Amino acid sequence: ATVLGRRGDLAGRRVIVTAGGTHEPIDPVRYIGNRSSGKMGYSLAEEARDRGAHVILVTGPVALPDPYGVEVQPVETALQMRDAVHRFIADADVLIMSAAVADFRPATQATQKIKKRSSGAQGRGQSEEGEFSIELVQNPDILGELAQILNAPPAQKTTCQRLVRVGFAAETEHLVAHAQTKLQQKQLDFLVANDVSRSDSGFGTETNKVLLLYADGRIEDLPLMSKASVAAEIWDRVVPLLSVQEQ
Ligand code: CTP
Ligand code: CA
Repeated sequence: ATVLGRRGDLAGRRVIVTAGGTHEPIDPVRYIGNRSSGKMGYSLAEEARDRGAHVILVTGPVALPDPYGVEVQPVETALQMRDAVHRFIADADVLIMSAAVADFRPATQATQKIKKRSSGAQGRGQSEEGEFSIELVQNPDILGELAQILNAPPAQKTTCQRLVRVGFAAETEHLVAHAQTKLQQKQLDFLVANDVSRSDSGFGTETNKVLLLYADGRIEDLPLMSKASVAAEIWDRVVPLLSVQEQ
């Protein structure tokens, strides 16, 4: 058996990885969700653990077992994911947001299961026969907000050390253009762009075909590989960005 990486290149580091998709409740039995399986995030967490990091895995509801030796923080909604990230951010060295965060949530959550046919006050959302609508409101952008917070004047800063930030982008078209916009808007160290229109890459697959986009404009095109291998490639690129550690 291998000894978990006490002397790995992430030894002594605290890293936060978000994984899976968030669930935004409609009523006690229904939610708005997405197809994220959590595999990429869990692979990132396991790889960081093996390299010696203290790993906090903030995960939406997924069908994967808790990885051994990782601090798992289960969340359901985007708002809960944001709270969890903020709770751990102050002494973290790295944040990798591989989670598929829901962009919108229902404006209100029904306290009782919504019935197909209802009348009066229970008929919220129901307009005409055979139609039903749910009002949605936008969720906060977790990475976008952090860019604002970390760029604020020192007095307002919630953290003193440099936080390496990595984002993901799943796109079905205009992959590079959309990814470049996100990299800049969220002020990331780099962004992992995933073409989810391919059947061998993205949601639920075992493999990923990704591009890495850097703040300086560089783009790296990685070949198709397992999510575990993509995770190793990502950490290889995070390590040189880490600030020198005081001992
Ligand atoms: N992200 C986030 N908070 C959100 C939405 C997304 O932190 N509310 C993060 C994701 O975890 C990912 C990156 O931002 O690392 C890009 O997510 P993506 O959904 O591709 O980008 P959006 O900015 O939401 O843009 P859009 O969905 O419109 O393409
Ligand atoms: Ca989004």
